[in-house]
Amino acid sequence: MHSTQPISVGILGATGTVGQRFIQLLENHTFLRIAALGASERSAGKTYREAASRSWKQSSPIPSAVADLVVLPCKPDHFAECRIIFSGLDADVAGEIESHFQAAQFAVFSNAKNHRMNPLVPLLVPLVNADHLDVIPHQRAARGLDKGFIVTNANCSTTGLVVALKPLQDAFGPLARIIVTTMQAISGAGYPGVPSLDILGNVVPHIGGEEEKMEAEVAKILGSVRGDGGGFAPLEGLRVSASCNRVPVVDGHTESVFIEFERRPAPSVEEVVAVLRAYRPEALTLDVPSAPAHAVVVLDEPDRPQPRMDVLTGGGNSVVVGRVRPCSVFDVKFTLLSHNTILGAAGSSIMNAEIAVAKGLI
Ligand SMILES: NC(=O)c1ccc[n+]([C@@H]2O[C@H](COP(=O)([O-])OP(=O)(O)OC[C@H]3O[C@@H](n4cnc5c(N)ncnc54)[C@H](OP(=O)(O)O)[C@@H]3O)[C@@H](O)[C@H]2O)c1
Repeated sequence: MHSTQPISVGILGATGTVGQRFIQLLENHTFLRIAALGASERSAGKTYREAASRSWKQSSPIPSAVADLVVLPCKPDHFAECRIIFSGLDADVAGEIESHFQAAQFAVFSNAKNHRMNPLVPLLVPLVNADHLDVIPHQRAARGLDKGFIVTNANCSTTGLVVALKPLQDAFGPLARIIVTTMQAISGAGYPGVPSLDILGNVVPHIGGEEEKMEAEVAKILGSVRGDGGGFAPLEGLRVSASCNRVPVVDGHTESVFIEFERRPAPSVEEVVAVLRAYRPEALTLDVPSAPAHAVVVLDEPDRPQPRMDVLTGGGNSVVVGRVRPCSVFDVKFTLLSHNTILGAAGSSIMNAEIAVAKGLI
């Protein structure tokens, strides 16, 4: 039984695709309690049920505990009873609003891109680099805060990739070159997202800014905390080339990954599979209730993973890998699948908060 005292949380962007997932995942949480919901002026003043009735696209109904909450403007004064703020805000507004909440001494866990590359903000993938939270005391000191901070999670397609790369880097690194081709679900574009006439029976070979985000974020996440705790040392030498596609899948980003190691001889397929299966990141050793039993699940079937069958593996918080095989150009290649709004967004934010609580930062 989890012994942490209940902590009140607020959700910004609560009406959006990521915000809805926060609400669904937190419905029965052991110690996080939803106390306040925020969205734009279009939604503020309405009950959550009224504000989100058209856009709610989850497979379970709006939880009764939030349906009658009145949606608030995203201003810190309205969230006074909360200690943690989860943000699923649109990137056009997230940067400034999240900074206001940080300055008002909230622990902010963001899904937006705005603060991800800030040198004092952890770009935290809970199943990869929980140690990057060591920079929080420095972030607070630099801003003159005693409680407030911002942590971001990664782009949804970056997240699945780094969970698979981290154990391989630790066991067989350095990694030399990665090529990744993504097949990304439409829920990744939010609601209403991609028009149906653009995506049904089609593939769109462009997602604005996505390839650049993947290529930049991997080095920060796989890098280390500097010795003085004052920032991050990005991983050097690794070259990543991403090619991103939107496909007519509702949930789950699939990625074809091609890896070249520096080490010669390169590890065998059997060694790669064994290391992926044995991967036990720090989050799985802490009291993190949302952590899956296995960070990476490797399937043996020749035609898996598939989003329809595998996307909820580990409650949507595991990365599913299959088709691990030799690569005739690089060393090894495989297919991976991760849930873009659970591990790729709200699920990671919740685990990041649970890790921060376990480490005494909240
Ligand atoms: N979807 C994914 O798989 C995914 C994965 C990882 C990261 N992300 C990131 O997460 C964020 C949210 O994505 P999403 O897919 O959930 O988007 P979305 O469905 O478009 O939702 C956006 C949310 O932001 C709110 N908002 C918009 N303008 C606002 C304003 N001026 N003031 C306050 N709130 C405002 C909206 O409220 P109203 O309903 O009132 O307009 C809505 O709640 C984005 O930064 C996105 O890049 C998304």
